Amino acid sequence: MTPQITVLDAGGQYCHLIARKVRDLGIYAEVAPSETPVSLLCDRKGVIISGGPASVYDPASPTIDPALLTSGIPVLGICYGQQLMAHALGGHVKKGDRGEYGLALLDIIHSDTILHGIEGRQQVWMSHRDVVAAVPDGFDVLASTETCAIAAMSSPQRGLFAVQFHPEVAHTPCGLTILRNFLFDVCGCEKDWDPAGQVEAVENQIRAATGNRNVFFFVSGGVDSSVAYTLCLKALGPERVHGTYVDTGLMREGETEFVRHNFKAIQIADARNEFLSALAAATDPEQKRHIIGEKFVDVQQRVLESEHFLDANWILGQGTIYPDTIESGGTAKADLIKTHHNRVAGIQRLIEEGRIIEPLSSFYKDEVRAIGRQMGLAPELLDRQPFPGPGLAIRCLCSDISSGLEKTADGYIIPVRSVGVQGDSRTYRPVLAIEEFPATDEDVPRLINKLDQVNRVVVAVWTAVPIQEMRVEPATLTADRLNLLRRADAIVRKLTKQAAYDALIWQFPVVLIPCGALNDHNSVVLRPIHSVDGMTANAVRMPADLLKTMTAELREIKGIAGVFYDLTNKPPGTIEWE
Ligand code: XMP
Repeated sequence: MTPQITVLDAGGQYCHLIARKVRDLGIYAEVAPSETPVSLLCDRKGVIISGGPASVYDPASPTIDPALLTSGIPVLGICYGQQLMAHALGGHVKKGDRGEYGLALLDIIHSDTILHGIEGRQQVWMSHRDVVAAVPDGFDVLASTETCAIAAMSSPQRGLFAVQFHPEVAHTPCGLTILRNFLFDVCGCEKDWDPAGQVEAVENQIRAATGNRNVFFFVSGGVDSSVAYTLCLKALGPERVHGTYVDTGLMREGETEFVRHNFKAIQIADARNEFLSALAAATDPEQKRHIIGEKFVDVQQRVLESEHFLDANWILGQGTIYPDTIESGGTAKADLIKTHHNRVAGIQRLIEEGRIIEPLSSFYKDEVRAIGRQMGLAPELLDRQPFPGPGLAIRCLCSDISSGLEKTADGYIIPVRSVGVQGDSRTYRPVLAIEEFPATDEDVPRLINKLDQVNRVVVAVWTAVPIQEMRVEPATLTADRLNLLRRADAIVRKLTKQAAYDALIWQFPVVLIPCGALNDHNSVVLRPIHSVDGMTANAVRMPADLLKTMTAELREIKGIAGVFYDLTNKPPGTIEWE
């Protein structure tokens, strides 16, 4: 399909969110690198330039083809996109030193074109350092905030529009109206997109791409591989589609049975002992991920060879979704925060030979769910919270040291290091444990800024002994520790479901840390979060009665000496602890 709208990716985490919002409005949109030449965009009805972390004055900052702005194609610049537009057309962008992050009040000056139907004062979400200080010739200022005089600008005759705030996020309630105004009134887009209506087209594509060959899948139990596998089953029939599920022993309680129940024909490769023994001595998070990645390659390679899937009449099916394709190709700029192991090296040959089919590669996650629903897949399968490929291994923290906790004026430092993210880089630091839930959510970032040796704050909800008596001891990934974590995770999942709390959060990792007392050497950390896409996240506080019931059940697990509650947002934490 030719997209009506292209979102030019200027390096911001928001570009996919913009494209998703456009698609939600029924218009097919794709993401492309910001430098895409205008010759490749001439049949678009409009172009949106996304936000980005850069300043137009940084030498390596993303740029656009300047001809875009005189091409006659309507353009909407968002955040950094507004600054790029102003800079390219002779306006003035002023370098900011502090920036503006968070909610702001927007005063509308002209409620026409993209601000049509929006009046008075509006809440918007801002996230920027530089500002446009003078509009280019021929532009009008459409709106301002207290700290940002040019919060929206336009030159409607030329089809150029820009906003400094983020219309694509939920914190900007009038944002959808702005996008709608741009798409339908300015660009003249016509609705052409409904993912559920794509099932037949995708099946046809699968038939055309496979020809008379067969498809095999490694099914993980996650949404993407399940929907991709089912699409191929539907398109080609069960004789021509094979699925294998690798049981790594790192999955949640009941996972293998769940997969078996949902996919009757699936073959299960039991690799539990193999993974456990490979991981026996690992304590470093990157090392754990590396070992798991390698083991996956070994096991998958073995399956490929033993089942003759490398013969020419087989191709590999994968559940790759749209953001994955952009990330692996485009965002070379993004620092390695954690090594993801999605691309198995042993499968490289099939990829090089083009013997691969990715039926979901132009869809976003919610669209994949819509396709799954359309095909009648079970809601428990489609509405699952994301679960990382390396499974419980990255939620079972290890330690090389034996040490007590360090008392500080603010709480106790638990010397178990976990991964975090600061700016675009990774941190690996101990955790601050405090004894009470703080009065406000702002107290947590304040503590982390103050004590820069930590990247997370947890509340000690319950400890078997006074917290100052707890200790961290050396620990690796053992079957016993994984079982403890699996039990704790199953309890948390059962209770969140019973309380219908699972529908209110995006993800709820449960983490095991080697911090204990007496004969019980581990504690559980609860980490419920809100997020849109996993790129950023907010820690959420669950209702007190749910936490009480949960803690009561968790402390009954033999071997558990404490229950902690992670209050850290991402950044500076990550969602997983690793
Ligand atoms: P972090 O911990 O980086 O996680 O804030 C962001 C989101 O990504 C998930 N995640 C993974 N998913 N394979 C996956 O399929 C992985 O290796 C992996 N690591 C993290 C994590 O659960 C969260 O939703």
